[in-house]
Amino acid sequence: MTRSIKKAIFPVGGLGKRFYPATLATPKEMLPVVDRPLIDYALEEARLSGIEEFIFITRKGKSSIEDYVEEYFKNKVLEYKDNNLDEESGLKNLTFSFTRQSDSLGLGHAIWCARHLVGDDPFAVILPDELFCSKTPCLLQLIRVYEERGGCVIGLGEIPIEKSYKYGIVSYSEDDGKVVKIDRMIEKPLPQDAPSNLSIIGRYIIQPQIFGLLGQEKSSIGGEIQLTNSLSDLIEDINLYGLRCKGQRFDCGSKPGLIEANISLAMDREDLRDEIANILRDFNSRI
Ligand code: G1P
Repeated sequence: MTRSIKKAIFPVGGLGKRFYPATLATPKEMLPVVDRPLIDYALEEARLSGIEEFIFITRKGKSSIEDYVEEYFKNKVLEYKDNNLDEESGLKNLTFSFTRQSDSLGLGHAIWCARHLVGDDPFAVILPDELFCSKTPCLLQLIRVYEERGGCVIGLGEIPIEKSYKYGIVSYSEDDGKVVKIDRMIEKPLPQDAPSNLSIIGRYIIQPQIFGLLGQEKSSIGGEIQLTNSLSDLIEDINLYGLRCKGQRFDCGSKPGLIEANISLAMDREDLRDEIANILRDFNSRI
């Protein structure tokens, strides 16, 4: 069996420009979905997927994320202690590292900034602005495919083709309905250039060879170093699998996505459902 994944990178150094002015003084990852900040959902997903080393790529002005991570784990320990759960001891093995991305050079550059912390192990990446709700945590779904097949595994979701310009899109050869074998990836293609309607959803399991490629990568669209391009180059040496993840994806990096996540997760809450349903009914009658 392929070794499991214990390290995860959380790239949280973005400027959050799509949410200006809300993110001028508050990190995007601290925007709330109901009553939890976005980063909380990512931490919970990673923890429930067996991640032990949490690596954050952050930047100036985003230290509230660091404070939140500390509080999150303190509270988990208390919660487990109160309920006498064995997991409390597991929490003591977890480690947290924060490193900074001082230039706005994109996701690829952010991952490259973590190379000293990751070393020679395969690792996970979670983009916290993609919120994924599922019975089996999204990252754990990827880890299970990785344990069977090795290589790299990328989380995928279907999108309407007219939205291809917002995401990394994959081209694939084999498809068993669940896992595809990726042969090419393109970052944010126009719909007419998109090779499929399968988009990258911000969950990755990557082999450390990526760091060599990222170090040589030139900036491309938006003047950024794209992780998608280096992953595409990695295909020559390493199998890249794409998993159609089971669950509900909310692209909270966009305003409609963040609003949808708030409504949907509030409707899942017993304490809020009735009031929110009344508000929605009222709105519906006005549309
Ligand atoms: C990033 C990735 C893209 C992926 C997307 C998911 O783009 O580069 O491939 O589809 O996240 O949200 P960003 O949204 O950071 O521009």
